[in-house]
Amino acid sequence: MKKELIELKVNGRTHELAIEPNALLLDVLRRDLGLTGSKRGCDESSCGACTVLINGIAMLSCALLAASCEGQEITTIEGVSEHGSLAVIQKAYGDWGGAQCGYCTPGFIMTVKSLLRENPDPSKEDVRNALSSNLCRCTGYNQMYEAIRAAVAAERAGMAAKS
Ligand code: FES
Ligand code: FES
Repeated sequence: MKKELIELKVNGRTHELAIEPNALLLDVLRRDLGLTGSKRGCDESSCGACTVLINGIAMLSCALLAASCEGQEITTIEGVSEHGSLAVIQKAYGDWGGAQCGYCTPGFIMTVKSLLRENPDPSKEDVRNALSSNLCRCTGYNQMYEAIRAAVAAERAGMAAKS
C-alpha cells in the first residue's frame, strides 16, 4: 500500500512519518516511534491496555487511525513523568501496589489522568465508572483504587500548599 507522509505530535515532539493510510495509532507508536509503553492487549477495543491521551482525553490507540491524529496532542505513558520524576499517580501506584505484572498499568494511568483532568476530586463511583473499560488480570482492583485516592489526596495537598 502506498505510504503517506504525516506529522504526529507525541509527548510534545513533532515527528514526520511515512505510514500506510490504514496504520493504527498503536502500531505507529510502538513500531515507528519505539514508544512501547502503550500495550496491545485485545486489539478489539475491549481491554484498555492501549489507552493514550488525545488532547487530554483517554482514547484507545488500537481503534484510531494514526492519520486521523494529525494536528492533535498525543500523550503516551512515556510522556507522563514530570521533570524527569514519576508523576504523582505513577508514584502512588508503586506505593500502593497498584501494579503486579504491569501490563495493564499504562492504560489505567492514562485513563486516570483523563479522569482527573475532568474531575479533580472523583468519588469512588466516578473512579469505578472511568476505569470500567480497563481490564486487569492480576490485581483485585482495590489497590488501584487506593493508589488513585492517594494520588488525588497528594495532588490536592500540593495545590493547597501552592495557594
Ligand atoms: S488493545 Fe486496545 S483496547 Fe485492548
Ligand atoms: S497488573 Fe497484570 S494485568 Fe494488570
